[in-house]
Amino acid sequence: MTTPQRPRIILDCDPGIDDAIAIMTASRWADLVGITTVAGNVGVEHTTANALKLRSLLGLTVPVHRGADRPLVGDPFHARHVHGATGLADVDLPEPDDGPDSWDAVDFLVEATRAEEGLHLVPVGPLTNVALALRADPGLAGRVASITLMGGGAGIGNVTAAAEFNVFADPEAADIVFRSGGPVTMVGLNLTNQVRMGSGHAEACRAVGTRVGAVAADLIRYNIGAHRSQDRATSGSMHDPCAVLAVTHPGVVRTEPRHVTVELDGTHTRAQTLVDERGSLGAEPNCRVAYEVDAAVAVDLVMQAIAGA
Ligand code: BDR
Ligand code: CA
Repeated sequence: MTTPQRPRIILDCDPGIDDAIAIMTASRWADLVGITTVAGNVGVEHTTANALKLRSLLGLTVPVHRGADRPLVGDPFHARHVHGATGLADVDLPEPDDGPDSWDAVDFLVEATRAEEGLHLVPVGPLTNVALALRADPGLAGRVASITLMGGGAGIGNVTAAAEFNVFADPEAADIVFRSGGPVTMVGLNLTNQVRMGSGHAEACRAVGTRVGAVAADLIRYNIGAHRSQDRATSGSMHDPCAVLAVTHPGVVRTEPRHVTVELDGTHTRAQTLVDERGSLGAEPNCRVAYEVDAAVAVDLVMQAIAGA
């Protein structure tokens, strides 16, 4: 499947195994205008180092801007048990050629979207940077083509029964994004759990015979292991590339307009993205919710990206 034009995107991420695959996917199918990093799967010092290592590995020239080191409220919450102690599955990547282009991702988000209207923001980590940018300049919501985020989901969590990791790690930030009035698309767990990669995909990546292919193979293998320890799965969900593909290949993902509320209280439901499926609140939709994906095509697009990198 071809994409008619390469959308220009800023990827806000916390690499992260699936974030790393998302960077590979974005660099193949989009014009990557910037990468911003945030604390999430691991601390921001690691997510930034990982983004820089991936930039070098992929031979990219895209600027990398370091962002927030903690959520708007409370303490950082990490997922080392899923992504490894430093975030990239203990895969040993060479030190990067350069450091970050700045330590102010929020300023970059504001200025880049002022310099060029119609960019897509693709946040695939906690939404701290995007929320801070919206706070600094609420007009940002009207300048972007979309805020297509991996986070939340329609009725399923992976940290608690109700809450998904990226929203759980900074619910107040997610609340700001969903209430921003911007063109938000939620690519949540209900969709991303349908896009899975197993050992056959890992070995196909290794068979490409490149350093990128070998790294992708190791990441996919580790991801299977992380899921197996949780639910005996033989494949692992590939969450973050789905948000990229929702922008680069919108025909692969079906969305519907819905009103979504981020639960900020709740004894059992803090950080839930409550999707008003029946319009019970009488509120206008504030978001498009992703429901269906052609998973085979999505995985094939990811594999093509890895093979061509
Ligand atoms: C999300 O949480 C992180 O662990 C992954 O990188 C992904 O962005 C899935 O819930
Ligand atoms: Ca992520």
